[in-house]
Amino acid sequence: MRKIPKPPKADDPRLAVKVGSVTFPNPFMVASGPTVKWKEQLVMAEACGWASASLKLAFDPEPYISLPPRYRYFKKEAYHAFTAEKRLTFKECLQLLQEGRKLTRRLILLANITYIGDKPGLTGWIEMAQQAEAAGAHVIELNMCCPNMSFNVAMTESARTEQTGASMGQNATAVSMITEAVKQSVKIPVFVKITPEGGRIAEVAKACYDKGADCVCSVANRLAIADFDIENPKQGPYRLQDEPTLACFSGPWIKPLALRDVFEIRRKAGPGPAVLGTGGIASARDAIQMIMCGADLIGVCTETMLKGFDFLPRWLKGMSDFMDRHAYQSCRDFRDLAVGRITSADKLTLHGGYAEVDLDKCTGCTLCEAVGHCNAITIVDKKSHIDRTKCTACSTCVEVCPEEAIHMVDAGVLEKKS
Ligand SMILES: Cc1cc2nc3c(=O)[nH]c(=O)nc-3n(C[C@H](O)[C@H](O)[C@H](O)COP(=O)(O)O)c2cc1C
Ligand code: SF4
Ligand code: SF4
Repeated sequence: MRKIPKPPKADDPRLAVKVGSVTFPNPFMVASGPTVKWKEQLVMAEACGWASASLKLAFDPEPYISLPPRYRYFKKEAYHAFTAEKRLTFKECLQLLQEGRKLTRRLILLANITYIGDKPGLTGWIEMAQQAEAAGAHVIELNMCCPNMSFNVAMTESARTEQTGASMGQNATAVSMITEAVKQSVKIPVFVKITPEGGRIAEVAKACYDKGADCVCSVANRLAIADFDIENPKQGPYRLQDEPTLACFSGPWIKPLALRDVFEIRRKAGPGPAVLGTGGIASARDAIQMIMCGADLIGVCTETMLKGFDFLPRWLKGMSDFMDRHAYQSCRDFRDLAVGRITSADKLTLHGGYAEVDLDKCTGCTLCEAVGHCNAITIVDKKSHIDRTKCTACSTCVEVCPEEAIHMVDAGVLEKKS
């Protein structure tokens, strides 16, 4: 890890976000994962200006899968995949909370927890939350999202009896019961981090809010199969691991799905409740998009794994500059801007038009002529010719052309068909 930098200049007060009783100096959180496992990482995160950190998932009792980490970042595809991961014991979590509180001044600490024991009712969850609160957690984050535990096992072999993470997170009744019990047992805010697996994220989020959750967090992770060698399919793409396996995907590739998760939650929950959006955030611009899709807070994991923590001051400046340009006084001023604009497919306003070629730029490479769903393009005398009467204005050829020789001509709004 790099040397601890000088603390950042004063916070931009416009970036502060209040959730429940806690004020976050800015929306950025180091999301639970391998960069929030030791006290040194917490110190570094605070020094780089991060407002909060959600500690690595802790299980009580000992997690039934906890292996040395196996990660791979697929640069070209821009996805990160992990197959094996070391979780914290609850004792380690409590110690980290205590040390973190001693060593940091303003970093808001979330305890990311899962109970898998056999204490009666919801006692196990309640006791974990209470002990985390006593150890110094500012927020409890219930982990209803990890896809690489029982959900992974169920997808590939037989289901386990312990339903944790993404298996449990699809069950709105179970999640909301735990949320309610924990909420009634601690004074600090309760966040619930839920899974998109199962396709019911907005419904589960609503159930959590109804039972008092202070914030619902999206995780974005999906289980998927990474690129592998077709000459040796029995060997997965992971180093120092024999078998191929379903892996937990994150990173820039996942951002479009993460934006959708946040949009879905916000749309169903309305403007009131807080949402923490996580998944593929790798710039201030990404974060602004996430806020426009409904997020109050922003979680970042993969980017911190690859680059550490010290890019944050650039992102904070990017946010402040953006707010200056638009005269926004708080993130709330641009939160949800995309939510109101995202329109259902049956209500779209389409413009008629056609594609047109700039013959001076066209090199006659024939790539546009090859477009499989188009019969409007022919190459005549080494130049592309587009028949307007056959052009459906789909616009694929614009991106296909390597010379940027094609543009769309707008012929005005098409009449809507009912
Ligand atoms: C290696 C790894 C370990 C993770 N461990 C946890 C965890 O312990 N608890 C949790 O809630 N999320 C965990 N996550 C999920 C991240 O917090 C985050 O929600 C997800 O990776 C999407 O964000 P990203 O694209 O910025 O990584 C983990 C992600 C990765 C890549
Ligand atoms: S816009 Fe679509 S239909 Fe029209 S020329 Fe291009 S690819 Fe063909
Ligand atoms: S892809 Fe572009 S450069 Fe190539 S033929 Fe078509 S218009 Fe010309």
